[in-house]
Amino acid sequence: MTKEGLLARTGGRELKRVVYSADAIATRVREMAGEITGHYRPGDSVLILGLLKGSFIFLSDLVRHIDWPLHLDFIVASSYGAGTTSSGDVKLLYDPTAPIEGRHIILVEDIVDSGNTINRLARALESRSPASIELCALLHKHIADDLVLEPRWVGFDAPQEFLVGYGLDHAEDFRHLPFVASI
Ligand code: IMP
Ligand code: MG
Repeated sequence: MTKEGLLARTGGRELKRVVYSADAIATRVREMAGEITGHYRPGDSVLILGLLKGSFIFLSDLVRHIDWPLHLDFIVASSYGAGTTSSGDVKLLYDPTAPIEGRHIILVEDIVDSGNTINRLARALESRSPASIELCALLHKHIADDLVLEPRWVGFDAPQEFLVGYGLDHAEDFRHLPFVASI
């Protein structure tokens, strides 16, 4: 992408640097899908729950490389508003309608930051008696020290900067960028 092309997409806002290129992400996402495929067995009822909105691109790339039958649903939780730090108050705006009991749940997150979102959701899902719950995160900032659920699959150990693109937003901007950048 040319500099002009990029600035047209961001409305003229400069990004600090590209942290993960589209190619690097594509390679890593395929590897992760392979690791996930290797973790399950024939007959496992796998339900992938994507955390919206941030995981929407990651999720759609990931599931196309998982070699098992699976079902998909979404969770919408919100903790940030328009700021860049977690408010700690996680609201559940959409709860999956798919049955959870006895199924192997894979929660797909864009990024684990404070861990507030995951801690809240993992507890809520545990209470519905799944066969297992695993967390798959594209990015992990390694800030949280009290995670109820450590991600089994992590795309990249992210720098402690505010990241956008490939689904991640700042106040809803930048989600559509094909790479991850810092602002
Ligand atoms: P946590 O609850 O603090 O772990 O944050 C989880 C959610 O906050 C993620 O799913 C993202 O939507 C958002 N978030 C955390 N860090 C970033 C960032 O660096 N860029 C964009 N969104 C972020
Ligand atoms: Mg967000």
